[in-house]
Amino acid sequence: MVDIPRPHGAMGAPNPAGPPSARWSGIFAPAGTPAKIVPSHGRDVRPANIGIHCAMSDSPYTIDRASNSRRKAVEEWLWGLDLVSPEVRDRIVTAWVSAWSSSPYEDLAEMPFQAGPPFYPLAEHVNEVTRAGVDLARRAAADWGVSIDWDTMVSILVLHDVDKPLLYRRDAGEDGQGHSRLFHELPHGVVGAMLLKDLGFPHRVVSTVATHATNAPFHGNTVEAHVLHYADLFAADHAMRVMGKTPIYLRRG
Ligand SMILES: [Fe+2]
Ligand SMILES: [Fe+2]
Repeated sequence: MVDIPRPHGAMGAPNPAGPPSARWSGIFAPAGTPAKIVPSHGRDVRPANIGIHCAMSDSPYTIDRASNSRRKAVEEWLWGLDLVSPEVRDRIVTAWVSAWSSSPYEDLAEMPFQAGPPFYPLAEHVNEVTRAGVDLARRAAADWGVSIDWDTMVSILVLHDVDKPLLYRRDAGEDGQGHSRLFHELPHGVVGAMLLKDLGFPHRVVSTVATHATNAPFHGNTVEAHVLHYADLFAADHAMRVMGKTPIYLRRG
């Protein structure tokens, strides 16, 4: 029997699991450190060179709440925003706009699902994961009686790869293998978790995004982590097929 704890409850409620593990404490800002919030007022806030930006700034991204054209584009792109509260919807959009504004990509459609060629759009992957994950979560609720907090579930699905625009390049990148410099400083998932923590997302969202990658040292033992894992692999294998690569489930060794 699979042990699937129920969600903690409403968005923003105290987390009975307590504060983030000390194991991760070194990668987040010290308690009490305010998030760096810099309104762009329509200006292009992207760094000219992400490598220099990383080396000279105290943060690899900038919180962008003011790029109205980008907010509109993100709202039109993301599937599932109608499933969350207005406050969470606004926070999700800010997270994606911030990642976009801090990346070298002019257009959402240019963001890659993986490092280097061949290309598959991250924008497609994110919506595929969210749709599959919502289907799985509804199945879990109907068949297993699992309680789903949709603000939490949808936030995790929509935002699990929010840091990829900061880490992956469509070309050879800064290391010749399709990666940014930041990729070699912090793992995929952790960068996104830092951004989400800065934006005030609850610990369940932050910790699940931080540990969702297949090569993470462990995954969360929650229904959200369970759903995300299989929705992500399901959608990733579709991307593999489209790119002419072997799907993960068919690989040996
Ligand atoms: Fe991922
Ligand atoms: Fe993914």
